[in-house]
Amino acid sequence: MIKYLGSKRRLVPVLAEICAASGARTGLDLFTGTTRVAQAFKSQGVEVTAVDTARYAHVFAQCYIETDAAAVDMTALTAAVSHLNELGGKPGYVHDTFSKEARFFQPFNAARIDAARDVIARDYAESPLYPILLTSLIEAADRVDSTTGVQMAYVKQWAPRSANPLTLRVPELLPGRGHAVLGDALAVASGLGAFDLAYLDPPYNQHRYFTNYHVWETLVAWDAPEPYGVARKRIDARDPATRSAFNSKRTMPDALRSVVSGVDCELLVLSYNDESWLAVEELETLCGQGRSVATLAFDSARYVGARIGIFDPSGVKVGRVSHLSNQELLVIAGEGALVRRVVDAVGRLGSASGVVGRRPQARSAKGIGGKVGRGASGGASGGASGGAVRGAGQDATASATAGPNPYSEDRLQ
Ligand SMILES: C[S@@+](CC[C@H](N)C(=O)[O-])C[C@H]1O[C@@H](n2cnc3c(N)ncnc32)[C@H](O)[C@@H]1O
Repeated sequence: MIKYLGSKRRLVPVLAEICAASGARTGLDLFTGTTRVAQAFKSQGVEVTAVDTARYAHVFAQCYIETDAAAVDMTALTAAVSHLNELGGKPGYVHDTFSKEARFFQPFNAARIDAARDVIARDYAESPLYPILLTSLIEAADRVDSTTGVQMAYVKQWAPRSANPLTLRVPELLPGRGHAVLGDALAVASGLGAFDLAYLDPPYNQHRYFTNYHVWETLVAWDAPEPYGVARKRIDARDPATRSAFNSKRTMPDALRSVVSGVDCELLVLSYNDESWLAVEELETLCGQGRSVATLAFDSARYVGARIGIFDPSGVKVGRVSHLSNQELLVIAGEGALVRRVVDAVGRLGSASGVVGRRPQARSAKGIGGKVGRGASGGASGGASGGAVRGAGQDATASATAGPNPYSEDRLQ
């Protein structure tokens, strides 16, 4: 999988446990990115729908979620990947734009990316292998790039990995049904149908995925756009249509509220971050909407850019990093007994660093399929991590720490 801002690699075991404990048969990953969470759900036999506005994320979703491994001609796929690996370089747009004008890839690899992408367009455009090969190419390119994991800039000296030869691999496909949707969550959320489990992982700051991953957008679109700036971004990055309501402090709260209201699900899990625009209490109110809510918090380290400092394009340090750790939050909303069950399951993993916010009220153990309860805040004691939690509707905060931290490095995984 590619290096990706906000990727939930370290939370995947927790989310997989939530999925298992919920008994979900259908799932939604509404901001799917790398699709790693959707893959974790699909691996459990869940029929997953994966949504994103990014074209590369849609290609990943077509590859890992929509494609049923059992239906793929593995011989043809392996042969195609080998063929792409044997191609020589053919300098084109990637070479000229992202290697000569910028330095995202070394020239010999950039020319091979051009050659492979042309063959995928020419020979596989109508083939079921198309998204699989394109995924394979993007992931191969990511392994030899010369960035810190975002494409607003490239590093001054070639990254050591950029000297490795571009090598495509056969993606690890999963058996089962799934659906990939290219679309804005705001526009599609209410029309996707009903789900047992919905996972929402929206952007939580002003940094736009469209510009941070413009090279992958271009590799998918293969439209040779006019580039601008040092990073040779796509000219349509200036188009307001490529902006997300989730990247603005002004529009994000209403956008999130609208999406949460639109999604039809038994159990809602929202990923958020305690440095972002909404406080835990606001998130819980927003997600609750008549349901029980619990919030799990996980220690985290901040984005790698924050750890190494803030530099201008000439390499001069221009900013100071204020602090290096924060918390990842999972806000879980649904019928009380169901919320309690998944929170307890996470607690048994021993990986939550604490539980903040209200606790779900004890209810009859109906699980998914049972009726959604009213927004109760029960007086339960004992957090997911075994820490003490103050009860009912108070701003309960637990600081207990238990088990290994699942999310202690940067978020570019
Ligand atoms: C925090 S990332 C998700 C990371 C993902 N969970 C993972 O582990 O790879 C947020 C994602 O939301 C997508 N996105 C941004 N605005 C969106 C919108 N309005 N509708 C749907 N997806 C959007 C971005 O392209 C990005 O992939």
